[in-house]
Amino acid sequence: MTEAPDATLAVILTVNGERHAIRVEARRTLADALRDNCGLTGTHLGCEHGVCGACTVLMDGEPVRACLLFAVQAQGRAIRTVEGLAEGGELSPLQRAFIDNHALQCGYCTPGFLMLGTAILDRDPDISDEALVDALSSNICRCTGYANIVKAVRAAAAEMREKVPA
Ligand code: FES
Ligand code: FES
Repeated sequence: MTEAPDATLAVILTVNGERHAIRVEARRTLADALRDNCGLTGTHLGCEHGVCGACTVLMDGEPVRACLLFAVQAQGRAIRTVEGLAEGGELSPLQRAFIDNHALQCGYCTPGFLMLGTAILDRDPDISDEALVDALSSNICRCTGYANIVKAVRAAAAEMREKVPA
């Protein structure tokens, strides 16, 4: 009996500055590759078809739905996940603001909101309230009612503005 040919592809993912050499089927999503091949289970899966935003990660600084991308599409790009937000054991200002403002309950949506919020603030820490609510509306939370998530992102934005040298 002949052996079935290896249907997997060699892919190198750069996640939070670390190189992960993995083998995946061409149809494997980035979300599954992050969780199952790289062991980075902080990226959550909800709807698995691009609606809820639980799987949001940053690709070259842009928020993307990891359930809608194939792992092979992320080769050569810089991926950032929730595991990459804390630096030197210190939570990021946005992570701290989520805790301080009670912006999570079950926490399932939280990694996605943290990555989306990080991208929003990296792009424009002076974002207007209206634009912030509009940008955050791409992700779904089933617990908090959103008000505290918006409050947390605003609080982190205020902290970031204070730190910028005049
Ligand atoms: S799991 Fe990707 S958008 Fe819902
Ligand atoms: S905190 Fe439970 S879904 Fe958002």
